[in-house]
Amino acid sequence: MTKSKFYITTPIYYANSVPHIGNAYTTIVADVVARYKRAMGYDVMFLTGMDEHGQKVQSSAQSRGIAPQQYVDEIAKVWARLISEYDITSDEFIRTSEPRHKRGVLKLLERMMNKGDVYEGEYEGWYCRFEENFLTDLQVVDGKCPDCGRPVERSSEHAFFFAMSKYEKPLLEYFDAHPNFIRPNFRMNEARRFVEQGLKDLCISRPVEWGIHIPGSEDYTIYVWVDALINYLTGIGFGTDDEKFERFWPCDLHLLGKDILKFHCILWPAMLMSADVPLPKSLYNHGWLRISGEKMSKSVGNVVDPFYLVDNYGADAVRYFLLRDVKFGQDGNFSEENLIVRNNSDLANDLGNLVHRSLSMCIKYFDGEIPSPVASADDSLRLKSEETFAVYSRCMDDLDFRAAIEAVWELISKANTYIAFNKPWELKKNGQIEKLAAVLYNVIECGRIILHMLGPVIPSAAGKMLKQIGVPESPDEKLERLAKWGGLPSGTKIGDLVPAFEKKQLEVVLNEGKDERQQKGVKVESMPIITIDDFAKVQLVVGEVRSAEPVPGSKNLFKVSVDIGSELRTAVAGIKEHYSPEDLVGKKIVFVANLAPAKIYGVLSEGMILAAGTNAVSLITLDRDLPVGSKVR
Ligand code: MSP
Repeated sequence: MTKSKFYITTPIYYANSVPHIGNAYTTIVADVVARYKRAMGYDVMFLTGMDEHGQKVQSSAQSRGIAPQQYVDEIAKVWARLISEYDITSDEFIRTSEPRHKRGVLKLLERMMNKGDVYEGEYEGWYCRFEENFLTDLQVVDGKCPDCGRPVERSSEHAFFFAMSKYEKPLLEYFDAHPNFIRPNFRMNEARRFVEQGLKDLCISRPVEWGIHIPGSEDYTIYVWVDALINYLTGIGFGTDDEKFERFWPCDLHLLGKDILKFHCILWPAMLMSADVPLPKSLYNHGWLRISGEKMSKSVGNVVDPFYLVDNYGADAVRYFLLRDVKFGQDGNFSEENLIVRNNSDLANDLGNLVHRSLSMCIKYFDGEIPSPVASADDSLRLKSEETFAVYSRCMDDLDFRAAIEAVWELISKANTYIAFNKPWELKKNGQIEKLAAVLYNVIECGRIILHMLGPVIPSAAGKMLKQIGVPESPDEKLERLAKWGGLPSGTKIGDLVPAFEKKQLEVVLNEGKDERQQKGVKVESMPIITIDDFAKVQLVVGEVRSAEPVPGSKNLFKVSVDIGSELRTAVAGIKEHYSPEDLVGKKIVFVANLAPAKIYGVLSEGMILAAGTNAVSLITLDRDLPVGSKVR
């Protein structure tokens, strides 16, 4: 019998930056689903890749003096490392600079053109070269781009448009007829509201060199979003391998972050409708990982490096933490402390101890052979395992990973209580060997089923522990079968016992000026230690506040203009709840002058004003009057 197919994708990642744990999150979730579906017997196609075209990439390459292709080739290696270090089992990796992608993009565009949905016209308005975006008068703020803060140019361009407005009604009808098309449900409402407000035709050409040229046009390439979305087709052979494409399309599940909903839930289906390609079955918009309430992103400067995490905690612990702590679909907070708590208490204590304890007793009392459960009248663990698998598989199918894991943890806790209640050591002492055999069999069998269920989430540790139980690798067995009680044959020889998890401490130890997180000792704080050379990189100067005004839309931000001697700088400072503009103007403060500019609430912040405290805030000021621009050391 041929297997049913399951095709899952992640967004393709921008090649103009290296990964952070926020975008690695989508990939980890996709991997858990892909592994689960494979275990359930599906023929899975899991696609991920890179979004490599556009002005930003071209500029980054230029500023490094290398060709865009060389630039993206280097970044692609970093993503490949992420995939390998996090045990990601993607089947395909598509890069938009590949010839196979270009062929498919041109094929789709041709279909849209043949339909009469692409037309040429004049674009008249503002253009931000950096963001590659056309803007209306209302969007432009003080002559600057609302996204990157750079000046916009007046543009009157010959351009190509996609007749997206034509798909307003068909999209709404499709949404009504397919209630699971966009998930979670509240995101469907968001998409519907947006379409109901009216769709405009979309300019799909850009005067950018690094991209796929519009056929017959030397000067224009295809807008990066149109180019990038088509990866979901080209990654499985659209335009190059019809058989593969026919096998896997339509996509069963596109996973994406909520920030890219409009592109995926409106533009993408409209493009497919235009090209007469069937629509994907479902798009799931997940939330953001936040740090202290703020979205993790490069521009905010609060990104967490996924390589640091995997080096320190291992892929399994990070995967488990993200799936267990964040309710999928909603925003979640990332905290290293919570990751450690999950690692130590859930993985090392609850799960690790259950397996280790039961196998140690098996070695001690039965020479390392799984005993025979002859006397088992007690089927409480069997019943709980069956009940758990039903809940687990239902939750996994619904992408409610947290609930699936919680159900498994209830079973783990039941098994641990079962050991404490039955006291195998006393059974041994009292010579109740048959009962001892039954109790140990039940606990180890329950552990085996638990590990099969956790395989998609913690693949490496689950595999290692199953091997200790003596379970041979059986990739062709379906999870449903593997999770059936009684699958562990008595007499199986158990393997060597090695702990699968290591307890971690968030400790920083000063040792000859070096940060040695792994060492035990005096707890300092949860920050990396820097050297004097690191500190010297920060340029602190005396500045004087010239003006301060609230940042529209924010509760606590001021846009502050600071004179630092050589120039006037703008800084966004979170002090509005603590100071009034009058308090600030004329104050001499300490200013970080060489911070990379970042856009905060649409305002480009070009440095930072130092302040102490969180609830009560105090600016760092001078106790003697010094000229602006004086160095602070
Ligand atoms: N290149 C586009 C996608 C094109 S798909 C046709 C893009 N790339 S991205 O690298 O910026 O983001 C990729 C994914 O990472 C998105 O799903 C995005 O939502 C996700 N995340 C980026 N920051 C995130 C968090 N802080 N938290 C969770 N996911 C986040 O968008």
